[in-house]
Amino acid sequence: MRILFGTGNPGKLREVQALFGALDHEVEQLKDEYPEIQADTLEEVVIAGLEWLWNRHNVPIIIDDSGLFIETLKGFPGVYSAYVFKTLGCRGVLKLLEGDENRTAEFRCCAGYVDANGKIITRSGTSPGRIIHEMRGTGGFGYDPIFVPDGMEKTFAELELDIKNRISHRGMAFAMLAKAMKE
Ligand code: IMP
Repeated sequence: MRILFGTGNPGKLREVQALFGALDHEVEQLKDEYPEIQADTLEEVVIAGLEWLWNRHNVPIIIDDSGLFIETLKGFPGVYSAYVFKTLGCRGVLKLLEGDENRTAEFRCCAGYVDANGKIITRSGTSPGRIIHEMRGTGGFGYDPIFVPDGMEKTFAELELDIKNRISHRGMAFAMLAKAMKE
């Protein structure tokens, strides 16, 4: 099946193409930027985005909304992750955590699919881990160089794409979404 992925993020595109490619789905980028509503949950953003895109294109589309939730910052940047990345970046987040012993954080991703009839399904994935004290690695994107997932020593930016996909919030959310799409 050919599916359009509504994203402007080449890092996300690479990950989702690898995931769906393994399931024999061909994923193509849809560059139409949907308005990201201000909402408390990633799922609300995804549903509003899919409704907006479906009204314009009337074809099957997938999107995701994700964020980094840092425990000691009470979940910040969370739903504001994109804005914080653009303004402060990884270095700014490291500064916010300077002197803080508690480095617990998690990535969350909500992945959504709208079918040709406008029916929407969503699935969510979480990747628990910690924020380290410096940036490491050149792969991945976004906050990957400062995040080490639980059970690993390497940052997401130091891991091969396939390994990140196997354990990441996005990998889990899209694997569950692909299963639900078949049902
Ligand atoms: P959005 O889902 O496009 O709104 O992304 C939210 C922010 O979190 C962006 O700044 C992304 O770069 C960042 N982000 C989302 N997923 C990941 C990831 O898997 N690794 C690192 N940063 C991510």
